[in-house]
Amino acid sequence: MSDSEIVERTIAFVKETLAGAEGGHDWFHVQRVFKNTLFIAKDEKVDVLTVSLAALLHDIADAKFNNGDEAIGPALAENFLKELRVKKKTITHVVKIIKNMSFKNSLQKKRGRKLRSKELFVVQDADRLDAMGAIGIARAFNYGGFKNREIYNPEIAPNLKMTKEEYKNSTAPTINHFYEKLLLLKDQMNTETGKKLAEHRHWYMMDFLQQFFKEWNPLALPTD
Ligand code: ADP
Ligand code: NI
Repeated sequence: MSDSEIVERTIAFVKETLAGAEGGHDWFHVQRVFKNTLFIAKDEKVDVLTVSLAALLHDIADAKFNNGDEAIGPALAENFLKELRVKKKTITHVVKIIKNMSFKNSLQKKRGRKLRSKELFVVQDADRLDAMGAIGIARAFNYGGFKNREIYNPEIAPNLKMTKEEYKNSTAPTINHFYEKLLLLKDQMNTETGKKLAEHRHWYMMDFLQQFFKEWNPLALPTD
């Protein structure tokens, strides 16, 4: 099977598997990450098939929606790629990328699973970009709504020192998520292209927050 046929088959599989997924983690999220991946990959020496498959399969079974089970996604991806008879070396790399994208850093270190590959860096940047900017804002509020969280609550301050467990069980308002995660992404980008795109999306979120607080508290600010 040709590489483009493998990619086409994977797209069909992901679309089918993610039918009915929450709006921030649906096929369109995957499609955007795939597009970001191809865009970033233009400037990097990476294996295009590997980054394409990793982008397409990275959220195939998010632990958040599978009782915290982090093994389901990588296993599903592996089985699917085996059925397509993708080269073993490519499968191994794709599965490692997916694992590294979903495991939180602290856990990775503990279990010694940390992978460093250019292909991982590209897909990771592509995924992080989709959590930023206008789309990042839309996704955050969509996810918050899905979890029935408050938009904002002035009495609940962001917590920058949450453990993974606390983070998972957090019921904090969605605005806090910007300070706990989204505004930190800019400095976590790996590639030059990723950094450039992230910069723009970062400042867009900062503008949004400024406007949000102005509207929340009109009396605190001069009117002109
Ligand atoms: P990804 O699937 O992109 O790797 P996550 O699964 O961590 O990343 O989050 C997916 C989307 O859901 C992101 O846009 C993120 O901002 C949003 N999200 C995750 N946790 C929260 C939260 N506690 N509050 C609001 N949005 C969240
Ligand atoms: Ni994702």
